[in-house]
Amino acid sequence: MKALVLSGGKGTRLRPLTHTLPKQLLPVAAKPILYFVMEQIKEAGISEVGVIIAPETGEMIKESLQENPWQHRFTFIMQDKPMGLAHAVKTAQDFLQDDSFLMYLGDNLIGESVKSFVDVFVKENLDSIILLKKVADPRAFGVAVVDEESGRVLRLIEKPKKPPSDLALVGVYLFNSSIHSIIADLKPSARGELEITDAIQNLVAAQGKVKAHILEKWWLDTGKKDDIIEANRMVLDEFTQRDIRASVDNNSNIAGRVFIDSSSVVENSIIRGPSKIGKNVVVKNAYIGPYTSISDGCLIENSAVECSVILEDSKIISVEHLDESLIGKQSIVTKHKGIKKSLKLMVGDDALVELP
Ligand code: G1P
Repeated sequence: MKALVLSGGKGTRLRPLTHTLPKQLLPVAAKPILYFVMEQIKEAGISEVGVIIAPETGEMIKESLQENPWQHRFTFIMQDKPMGLAHAVKTAQDFLQDDSFLMYLGDNLIGESVKSFVDVFVKENLDSIILLKKVADPRAFGVAVVDEESGRVLRLIEKPKKPPSDLALVGVYLFNSSIHSIIADLKPSARGELEITDAIQNLVAAQGKVKAHILEKWWLDTGKKDDIIEANRMVLDEFTQRDIRASVDNNSNIAGRVFIDSSSVVENSIIRGPSKIGKNVVVKNAYIGPYTSISDGCLIENSAVECSVILEDSKIISVEHLDESLIGKQSIVTKHKGIKKSLKLMVGDDALVELP
C-alpha cells in the first residue's frame, strides 16, 4: 500500500496568507496541517508516500518535509496545472504502478485514525473505500448515496445543486489499481477538471466494490479562515497536554492544558488552556485565552488574545481584545499612539479587517 498526498492548489480562499504559504502548511495547534496528514499515514503503516506538488508552491512543500521525522520515502510529483483530483492520480501513475493507495488531500484533517479503513479495505478486497461525513450544507462537496445496510456506495455526484443526501465526501480515499483505467476514460466536468467523484461514480457503475465509512468524529476541510480557527480549536481540544517548559514568573497564572516551549518566557500574564505556545515567544502583561496557538518568535505584550492563530514572528502589542483572528507571519498589530481615534492600517492584498 502506498499513499498519495495532494499538496497543490492555489488556496485562493485563504488569501492573503496563501500568497506566501501553501495552504497545507498553515499551522493548526502550531503545527502545519500537512504534518498531521503525514502522522496519520505513518500510523496506518504506510511509508511510500507520493506528494503531488504545484509549480507555485512545490519547493516550500518539499522543504517542509525535509526533516521527515516520520521516515517516509517521499516521491515528489509535479502537477503542472490544477486539473482535478483524478488528473493528479493520472499524473502519479508511474509512482503508484499497480499498488493500492491511500489518497489524502493535504488540507483535510480527520479526528479518526485511517488505519482501520486500510485494514477493512485489504480484508474485504475492495476496489475503493470513501469516507463521508454528515454536513448541514453538502452543496460545496462531493455527495454520496449509500445503502445503509451493506455500506455499499450507490451513487456519487460532485457539488450538486440539489444534494441527494447530507453525506459529503471527505478528502481521504482508498483505491486499488482498477481506478486507473476508469480515470483514463474520464471526461472533464463543467468546471473543467477531472473529478475523482466522477471516477468513483464510474467505478460503481462498472460494478466495482465501493464501500463508505461515515465518520463519527470531526472532519475539517481547512479551506477558509474560519475553518482554520475551528480546526485549531478542535485539535487543541483533542491533543493538548499540560506541559509548561518555559520560564514563568510568580506573577503569572497558567490554567489548564497549556503547552509552552522551554525557550519561551511568560511574565505577569494569564494563560488559559487549551492553548499552545511555540519557541522563543515572549508573553508579557498579557492574557492568552483558550483555543489560541502562537507560533515561534512572537511577542504578545499588554494585550488579550483568544481563540486565535498567530503565525511566526508576529507582534501583538497593546491590543485590547483580539478574538477569532488569523494573523500571518511577521505581522504587527498594535494601538497607535496619536491623539486622533483613527485606524491606521497597512493591509495586504485580499486581507479581511473586521472592526467592532
Ligand atoms: C474536493 C472534492 C470533493 C470533496 C472535497 C473535500 O473538492 O472534489 O468531492 O468533498 O474535496 O475537501 P474541492 O476542494 O476540489 O472543491
